[in-house]
Amino acid sequence: MKPRVILHNAISADGRTDGFQPDLEAYYGLAGRFHEDVTLAGSQTLLESPDGPALSRDPGNVPEPPAQDPKDVRPILAVPDSRDRIKNWVFLRTLPYWRDVFALSSSTAPQEQVERFRRQHIPYFLSGRERVDLAAALSSIGGRFGAKTVRVDAGGTLNGALLRAGLVDEISLLVHPRFVGGMSPRSVFKADDLETDEGALELNLAGNETLPGGLVWLRYNVIPPKTAPAPVED
Ligand SMILES: NC(=O)c1ccc[n+]([C@@H]2O[C@H](COP(=O)([O-])OP(=O)(O)OC[C@H]3O[C@@H](n4cnc5c(N)ncnc54)[C@H](OP(=O)(O)O)[C@@H]3O)[C@@H](O)[C@H]2O)c1
Repeated sequence: MKPRVILHNAISADGRTDGFQPDLEAYYGLAGRFHEDVTLAGSQTLLESPDGPALSRDPGNVPEPPAQDPKDVRPILAVPDSRDRIKNWVFLRTLPYWRDVFALSSSTAPQEQVERFRRQHIPYFLSGRERVDLAAALSSIGGRFGAKTVRVDAGGTLNGALLRAGLVDEISLLVHPRFVGGMSPRSVFKADDLETDEGALELNLAGNETLPGGLVWLRYNVIPPKTAPAPVED
């Protein structure tokens, strides 16, 4: 079964994910409330993080990791990386936030990438022609790890691909009292423009809270779009 997918982002009042200093304590404090089984992170988000430089260095052969502690309740980190930009997956495994790593790539992933997953003993799943088939990847995450909740930690690109594919159940926004402006598309939802306003997702307000420092926490459930009724056959 597909896990519940929650986007959680710190944004400016004009919907940007950059151009201001987010309140990280508040952001991660709220993220902790979701108790996700799997964190689905954008490859770009990881590569732009302070760990980015370490991720670009292939460590070569590494020993098999010790068996996992069944009492370890930390989430799994899953990352779509069909462009084979992350070379050091075991580094992610050493970070304290996750108990293991799950690599996602396309079914046309270069052999070199697949060999790298094997050399580093990283579980992986291949789907989609050029980019990862996110629906298939989420089913695999649900089946393989029994995941019920996936929190997405990404910018507008992965958010956009998930939203346009109808895979998001909840949107959590920590709105900062900042107004950034600009022409670059660093919005929380980056996708091709809609041709009509009918494609806009409908949301149900599930919660709103005012927090210290002028922050507002908004939570929405995504209302699944109505599918057109099947034609009646004579
Ligand atoms: N304010 C916040 O709350 C917040 C949170 C997280 C990140 N950020 C910021 O956001 C920025 C990065 O965001 P970003 O939008 O540039 O990148 P991103 O969302 O972090 O990464 C793009 C991801 O989307 C995947 N992707 C792209 N198109 C796809 C498709 N059609 N189907 C399936 N997967 C697809 C990519 O996979 P491939 O690698 O396979 O192409 C990649 O994993 C960073 O500056 C980061 O600091 C802000």
